[in-house]
Amino acid sequence: MPDHAPEVAFTGVSLRYPNGVQALDGVTFSVPAGTICALMGGSGSGKTTLLKLVNRVEHPCTGQVCLDGRPVDNADPVVLRRSIGYVIQEGGLFPHWSAARNVGLVPRLLGCDQRTTDELVISAMDLARIPHAEFGRRRPDQLSGGQRQRVAIARAIAARPRLLLLDEPFGALDPAIRSEMQDELRALVKRLGCTVILVTHDIAEAFAVADRIALIDRGRLVQIGSPVEIALRPSDAVAAAFTAKQALELRLRYLRLADVAAHLPACAGDGTEELPGERTIADALGALARTGGERFTVLHQGRRLGPFERRAVWDLLQRGAA
Ligand SMILES: Nc1ncnc2c1ncn2[C@@H]1O[C@H](COP(=O)(O)OP(=O)(O)O)[C@@H](O)[C@H]1O
Ligand SMILES: [Mg+2]
Repeated sequence: MPDHAPEVAFTGVSLRYPNGVQALDGVTFSVPAGTICALMGGSGSGKTTLLKLVNRVEHPCTGQVCLDGRPVDNADPVVLRRSIGYVIQEGGLFPHWSAARNVGLVPRLLGCDQRTTDELVISAMDLARIPHAEFGRRRPDQLSGGQRQRVAIARAIAARPRLLLLDEPFGALDPAIRSEMQDELRALVKRLGCTVILVTHDIAEAFAVADRIALIDRGRLVQIGSPVEIALRPSDAVAAAFTAKQALELRLRYLRLADVAAHLPACAGDGTEELPGERTIADALGALARTGGERFTVLHQGRRLGPFERRAVWDLLQRGAA
């Protein structure tokens, strides 16, 4: 098992299923160690298939997948799978097992003794905010959809994997809990030090959670980039369509000032407002509205960026937006 978060690299990966469906077509991109990559694409675009190539549930017809530069084909598939935390699309909990037994699956398979398994289960359930004392004995049918998804996440992290593959892990959650889980997931994986590939069909979720977003369309990679690049520099019309409906909301709520500063023209004069780089565009407009100011500067890593005019922010918000 890798003892650190690995880099994941897909190189020229194509896969045609035996029934003739071309699920993937020449996909090349990599996920740097310790980062979160969101995979986005319509239903049937090949997202789940990409995850299955990483843990060798499927094999590419051409191309290869590497962890830290080593092809996964060289790894023992059983050892490989136990070293990767995987949340499959429908959760995949064993219905007749208690939550705790589900969470302890991989530690047991890895040969941990009972005491170690119990400790890992309790700690994983704590981390996923589904406390063992309260929920450990319940079967999946005695839990809500959101609680089941927490158990599935606890199971994926129980053996402390450094690579997590999450296939629409929050699909069953209502929006408020969903957004809470997104924040928790991000904090959790940054604390554990994991590389994460997260499949989602929710662009706002991708913006909220991911360091980089890979857009997949009919088996092909359309674009990969940071949320800022995806929002402001779509590679083509197909990439632009991913964000078109929510373009304004995504730009306002999720783009950090530190990241958009490079896309704003600086102006002359003093900034009337100073804002930390972690803040969003919405925060900046709110601060200007409160004070009636026209300009602001951004403080980021000891540097002062700008000043920028409010009008430039509006131009940025509207750029290319439908
Ligand atoms: N085991 C399989 N055999 C044949 N076709 C499959 C299989 N699994 C997926 N497919 C097809 O491959 C395409 C990609 O599927 P999938 O990776 O599950 O897409 P996504 O997760 O993006 O919805 C779809 O057309 C799907 O119907
Ligand atoms: Mg899928």
